[in-house]
Amino acid sequence: MSAEKILVLDFGGQYKELIARAVRGLSVYSEIRSGDISAQEIKRLSPIGIILTGGPNRVYEPTAPLCDPEIFTLGIPILGICYGMQMMCHMLGGEVMPGKCGEYGRVMVTPILESTYQPFLGLMSHTDVVAVLPSGFIATAHTENCIAACKNAEKKLYGVQFHPESEHTEGGISHIGHFLFDVCGASADYKLDDYLENQILAIRKKVGDEKILLGLSGGVDSSVCAAILSHAVPNQLVCIFVDHGFMRQNEGDEIEKSFANQNLKLIRINAADRFLAKLRGVTEPEAKRKIIGEEFIRVFEEEAAKLGAIPFLAQGTIYPDIVESGGSHGATIKSHHNVGGLPENLSFTEIIEPLSSLFKDEVRIIGEKLGLPPALINRQPFPGPGLAIRIMGEVTEEKLEILRTSDAILREELDGMALNQYFTVLTDTYSVGVKGDYRTYDRVLAIRAVTTNDFMTCEFAQISYKILAKLSSRITGEISSVSRVVYDITSKPPATVEWE
Ligand code: XMP
Repeated sequence: MSAEKILVLDFGGQYKELIARAVRGLSVYSEIRSGDISAQEIKRLSPIGIILTGGPNRVYEPTAPLCDPEIFTLGIPILGICYGMQMMCHMLGGEVMPGKCGEYGRVMVTPILESTYQPFLGLMSHTDVVAVLPSGFIATAHTENCIAACKNAEKKLYGVQFHPESEHTEGGISHIGHFLFDVCGASADYKLDDYLENQILAIRKKVGDEKILLGLSGGVDSSVCAAILSHAVPNQLVCIFVDHGFMRQNEGDEIEKSFANQNLKLIRINAADRFLAKLRGVTEPEAKRKIIGEEFIRVFEEEAAKLGAIPFLAQGTIYPDIVESGGSHGATIKSHHNVGGLPENLSFTEIIEPLSSLFKDEVRIIGEKLGLPPALINRQPFPGPGLAIRIMGEVTEEKLEILRTSDAILREELDGMALNQYFTVLTDTYSVGVKGDYRTYDRVLAIRAVTTNDFMTCEFAQISYKILAKLSSRITGEISSVSRVVYDITSKPPATVEWE
């Protein structure tokens, strides 16, 4: 593991992972911690620098989160971003107040002292401004409405009102790089190769000659997890792949094929009938999700029990899973189900999570290094409950077949386009049509295609009419029970990516 570390202290900003990822992109290891971490704990972690994130609060309100004031006396370089800069200035004796107008979007930022910097467009998202700087600070950039950057170079305290982590800030990453290398003296010692090497050694040491059990879903995380483990301890990994029958066309076979030549044992359980039986007559989306999640665990437990005692359970948990589960308690929009969730009735000596410090794109890079097929590594996200939540109403084999076929057509036609996720949805609406000289009364199928950076929000994809026309003609032509194809033009929010 790299010796140098940057701590990203979270004050509720939506960009905390982007910041941590941007730091790692510059080969400096970063970790996200809660904003209320104590100065003592920070000393123990001994980071070379600290970044304070943005956040939705106003520093002068009584409930606003503040950091431990001692952090500013540790001598560790600090960069405050947006709320982070306001909080630092407020806590050190400056004054923060509502600006004469808020700034949202790309705003021209003009450097004051650093003559090497030219004016640039910076992404702003703030109502409050730092009106008076604390003593010892000077402004280093401004916009028409605010102090856009400030510093106390002697104490190595820096602030920016704009978001350098955003791709919408011109040269944003170079601002982060300036802090890391010129202020914190980072040496860029974080390398994914080292991470992989260290994980492999640690797994070998921990596992010895014992066996490891892993729930393999065919998704990127569990696949890369399997690849690392089979590489570290060949022939000691047992993977259970529960095929619930809600995978896309040929997907189950492809997953099986991808892992056929790895040094692991893959047990595929074809449980489609069992899942369909459980879902008979169920139409409510949350009920479907819960039934599938629970049934999945039951099948996994039953199969694992047949194998006898296996001391280690592996999981493909990645860093954002950990950051998000430690975050604030938002309203449950959907009960997300990840194949491979922890079974409660099985007793394992230890859980192994070799990807738990990595971001998704880092997981993909590791997968590539370990020789996994590109189709698997670049697989679109696919919900744990699979096609079952893309069928409105009761799930039946006949409906699944329509969905698999239409989804395969969609994938053939959209393959290679710069879209983050696309799929078909079988609605429970029927409509009148005409095929040949006959009146039809058949199913309405929807197409969903989105672009997004993080799946927290998304835009519907602006696919050309020509492509939509081809899709509609192929789907209605090749699937006799579809009379009409509609295109979903809703973004998230107010919709979600999936329909259920
Ligand atoms: P929503 O529909 O919540 O989806 O806007 C956001 C992203 O999450 C995927 N998704 C899931 N992934 N288990 C998963 O692992 C789930 O239960 C699940 N439900 C939705 C969805 O496909 C999209 O990429």
